[in-house]
Amino acid sequence: MKKILLIAAASTVLSMGSVQANPYDALGCAGCHGAGGKSSIPTYPSLNGQQAAYTVKQLKDFQSGARKDATMGAMAGLAAGQEQAIADYLAAQ
Ligand code: HEC
Repeated sequence: MKKILLIAAASTVLSMGSVQANPYDALGCAGCHGAGGKSSIPTYPSLNGQQAAYTVKQLKDFQSGARKDATMGAMAGLAAGQEQAIADYLAAQ
């Protein structure tokens, strides 16, 4: 019982934290893709409002090399383990 309460408390703290410091911002993705994934640089795609499953797949494809881009290949590695959180954040923008 205690464990369940602890997990519930921890996930509440985590979900509150993700509002302020989501992995998208923490990893510097906004530097290219813009705040909230709304890019203002023509050569960098906007990511806001994209289907989360699509974003997760692109990040994994960049990581595996199935999709090749020198810049994103490196950046996608940083997102390892946080693909879903990033994708959910972007889908909600
Ligand atoms: C230095 C600039 C730069 C940074 C920083 C960067 N990206 Fe990208 N990103 C790009 C470019 C350029 C592309 C287009 C790649 C291509 O042509 O295939 C791209 C493509 C993508 C795509 C595919 C979009 C689509 O519509 O298919 C996703 C998803 C993505 N980036 C997520 C991220 C995430 C998450 C981060 C942070 C971990 C990040 N990017 C950081 C430059 C950047």
